[in-house]
Amino acid sequence: MSLETLSDQLLAEISEILAKHPQRRPALLPILHACQRRNGYISPEIERAVAELLGIPVIDVREIITFYTLLLPKPVGKHHLQFCTNLSCHLQGAEESVAAACRRLGIEEGETTADRRFTVTTVECLGACDMAPAMQVNDDYYANMTSDRVNELLDKLS
Ligand code: FES
Repeated sequence: MSLETLSDQLLAEISEILAKHPQRRPALLPILHACQRRNGYISPEIERAVAELLGIPVIDVREIITFYTLLLPKPVGKHHLQFCTNLSCHLQGAEESVAAACRRLGIEEGETTADRRFTVTTVECLGACDMAPAMQVNDDYYANMTSDRVNELLDKLS
């Protein structure tokens, strides 16, 4: 019954992924990425459907979703502002950028604006430590962020 949650296109994409992975469990991460690309986030229904499809416990799927901050368990706004607050970015003042974004948008970290245009979250290392503080908006990276640069970016996105 959970498998009905997955669209025909998504099932086709999952079949292609499974064809490249002789063992099913290593296919979990690419499958979750595919689900997120198609649905915007990974709902509990999709979580159960993926577990059923792979024949693994739902908790195994949830562990992956909650471990990787790039996987989204709930919907986000059109512009998803993800601020790295890991060590390099923290030492370079990442929290000031997070606070600037939240102040400007009138939301708290982890929230989405009422018009669903912006979500602000903090994430683990984005792999851009040499450009700290780093952030990502959807698939685009931004480096050396400051409060002023955050406000300039929000001007462009608004
Ligand atoms: S610590 Fe922020 S990008 Fe690595």
